[in-house]
Amino acid sequence: MTHQSEVRTSRFSKPGHGWSEVGRQLIDAATTVAGRAPRDPLPVGAPDEVLASVARELGAPELPEAGIGEEAALRRMAHIVHEYGLNLTHELCAAHLQPPPLSVAVAADALASATNASLDTYDSGPATLAIETWTVQTLARLAGLPSTAGGVFGPGGSYSNLLAMLIARDRAGASRGIDIRQHGVRALGSPVVLCSKVAHFSLQRACAALGLGEQAVVTVDCDDEHRMVPAALEATLDALVADDRTPVAVVATAGTTDFGTVDPLPEIAEIARRHGLWFHVDAAYGFGALFSDRFAGLLRGIGDADSITLDLHKVGWQPAAASLLLLADTNSFASLDRSVAYLNPEDDLEAGFGGQLGLTLQTTRRPDVLKVATTLLAYGRDGLGSMLEDCHNLAAHAQRRVESEPQLALVSPATLTTVVFQYLCDEPDIDQVNAELRRRLISSGTALIGRTQVRVDAADDQSRTCLKLTLLNPETSPADIERLFDEILRVALEVESEGLAPAALNVGVAHD
Ligand SMILES: Cc1ncc(COP(=O)(O)O)c(C=O)c1O
Repeated sequence: MTHQSEVRTSRFSKPGHGWSEVGRQLIDAATTVAGRAPRDPLPVGAPDEVLASVARELGAPELPEAGIGEEAALRRMAHIVHEYGLNLTHELCAAHLQPPPLSVAVAADALASATNASLDTYDSGPATLAIETWTVQTLARLAGLPSTAGGVFGPGGSYSNLLAMLIARDRAGASRGIDIRQHGVRALGSPVVLCSKVAHFSLQRACAALGLGEQAVVTVDCDDEHRMVPAALEATLDALVADDRTPVAVVATAGTTDFGTVDPLPEIAEIARRHGLWFHVDAAYGFGALFSDRFAGLLRGIGDADSITLDLHKVGWQPAAASLLLLADTNSFASLDRSVAYLNPEDDLEAGFGGQLGLTLQTTRRPDVLKVATTLLAYGRDGLGSMLEDCHNLAAHAQRRVESEPQLALVSPATLTTVVFQYLCDEPDIDQVNAELRRRLISSGTALIGRTQVRVDAADDQSRTCLKLTLLNPETSPADIERLFDEILRVALEVESEGLAPAALNVGVAHD
C-alpha cells in the first residue's frame, strides 16, 4: 500500500502520482499559453520576418549551461508556437491535407509519449503491440481484405508507400528466384512501377531510395476527372514488356492529393492480376471514405489490393503521424524479416516474446496506434463518417460559390474534400496573379489556401497555377466558406489593382 509519506514527484512521467501531479501541471502550463485568445491561421508578416522573430525568441543557438526549468521552458515553447505557428482549427485554414487534430487523439498521443513503448519486441511494449494488432485487423476488415491481412504503422504516407514498393520489388525478385536483399536490384533488369500522372511524388522518391531510380516510375494517362485510364495502363504495360522492361507493381490512387479522385480500382486490379503484378492502392487521402456509407462506394475494389497505404492524419483527424500500410497477406512482409540477437532471438520468438521488428525498416517505433485506436473507439465509424460528410458538404458549398463568381473558374469539383479553381483577370500573367494572391493571404495571416499546377485546357499544353481548398475542419460553416471567398476576392482585386510585386515577377512558375 502507498502511504502519503512515500509519494514522490519525479522528473520522469511515472505512472501514479509523479505523472498525475507533475505531468498535469506541466501540460496545464503549456496548454494555457497555447490555448489563449483565438488567433489567425498564420502569423502576420513575410516568412523571413516570422522566422527571424522565432530565432530571436530562442536566443543564440547555444546549449545553456543552466536550464531555465521545466515550466518556464514549456511556457516559452508554447508561447512561440502560439504566436508564430499555424492554427489548424481556424475556419479559414484550408490549404493542405493537414486536419485539426481531435482532442481525444491529442490526449492519447500524450499517453503514447508518456509510456514511450515501442513495437519491435514484446518486452518493449506488450499492450501497444496488442493494440496495434487489433487496430490493423479492424481497418483491414473495413477495407475488405482477407483474414490473412496484416499491417504496420509508420511515420507517414510517403514511408508506407516506400515500404509497399520495397515489398513489391522483393516479391518481383523472389518470383524470378532472386533474393534482392542479397543481390541488389540489378538482377531485376529494368524495373518499372506504373501509376497515374497525378499519383503522389513519394512513389518517385521511394523508387530512387530503393535503387530502382526515379525513372522506374512510368506514368499512365488520366481521363478528364484525373482518374487513370485502364486501357492506357494496358497499352503502356504492353509497350514496356515489348521494350524488355520488368514491371514490378501497379499503383492506383484512391484520393488524389489535389482532386480527391479515385482511380478505377476494379479494372486496375484485374489488369495487375492478369499481368502477375503487385497491386498497391495509395489511399493515403481517400481511405476515410470507407467511414461513410455515402462515400464508401468510391473505393469499390480496394479489397483486391495486395497493399494499401492509409493515413489517418488526413481524413481521420489524427495528429501526424498515423499512417498504416496494410498487406492482404501478412506473409508478404517476409523480405523485411530480421533476427537480431539482442531483440528477437529464435528461442525468444518461439516462446512468444516476438514483436513487429520484421514488418518494417524501423527498430524503435512509436505507438502512433494508441491515438488511432482511441479515436476509433471514441467516435466509431458513424462519428468519423459524418465528419467526412460535413467536410465534403463544405467543399460542395465552395464549389457552388466558385461557379457563381464570374471572376472564378472551376478546375476540379468536389469529390472528397478538395476544390480546385482559378482566379481570372485581364492581367497578362494569370498564373502569377493566382500565386501572388495566395502569398498575400498567407502573409496577412487572414487565410490559408493551397495552390497547385493543373492543365486546365486540353488545347493548352502548359499547366496553370490554380488555387485549392482542402477542407478538413468539420466545424467550419458555410458562412465561413463565404467569408473565405470574400477574402480571396478582396485580395485578388488588391493584387490586380496594385500590380505584382517585383519579387513575385521573379518567381518562376514550373510549367510541365
Ligand atoms: C495520395 C497521397 N499519398 C501519399 C502522401 C504522402 O503522405 P505523407 O505526407 O504522410 O508522407 C500524400 C500526401 O499528401 C498523398 O496525398
